[in-house]
Amino acid sequence: MAYKRKDHFYKKAKREKKASRAVYKLDELQRRFKLVQKGDIVLDLGCAPGGWMQELSKMVGTKGRIIGIDLLPLKIEPPKNCSFIQGDLEDEHPTTKIQLMASGRVDVVVSDMSPNISGIAFADAYRSYEVAMLALEICRKLLKEGGNFVVKIFPGQEFEEYVRILKIHFKKVSTIVPEATRKTSSERYLIALNFKS
Ligand SMILES: C[S@@+](CC[C@H](N)C(=O)[O-])C[C@H]1O[C@@H](n2cnc3c(N)ncnc32)[C@H](O)[C@@H]1O
Repeated sequence: MAYKRKDHFYKKAKREKKASRAVYKLDELQRRFKLVQKGDIVLDLGCAPGGWMQELSKMVGTKGRIIGIDLLPLKIEPPKNCSFIQGDLEDEHPTTKIQLMASGRVDVVVSDMSPNISGIAFADAYRSYEVAMLALEICRKLLKEGGNFVVKIFPGQEFEEYVRILKIHFKKVSTIVPEATRKTSSERYLIALNFKS
């Protein structure tokens, strides 16, 4: 299928002055799964340019807090209840910093992280699996019992194995392709609810 950059969601994001079209994916996940509650502390892994951060900020309200991390800088001014760390989650340092900032309570982890895409499908799927494993490791260190996790993955051979591991750690796991995902993309979102700790 031909790649159509300026599709419906691209134009909607421009019109509504959103940092990225990715916000509509998160909005759909929230509508369907009620992932985030007012007052929650949320880790936003791979948060740049900042679209999810803007939406999460509204979802948690003034009593909640978002801690975002990315290799790249944000393209928005972070809302008042958001903090941003620029760094690589593959390094130990940012995780320790997040731990301190969250002061021991993380209610939800969301990961929209994507590796750099090479165009070689099996290699990209494997890198995506590694990045998703990294996000799961962070849940295992920081997520509270009963917490929720959303993770993006480009499915390859390791996909079923990843779902199997998620099911060990969470009571309910679903796979979703949001409406705002480009028709040319193979991305899936895994929604893992109720962390068993
Ligand atoms: C699709 S974008 C996220 C879009 C974001 N959710 C939004 O709404 O604006 C994926 C991000 O993952 C980040 N990323 C990939 N690997 C990372 C890593 N190891 N550490 C931190 N960020 C990473 C990339 O830099 C990129 O900005």
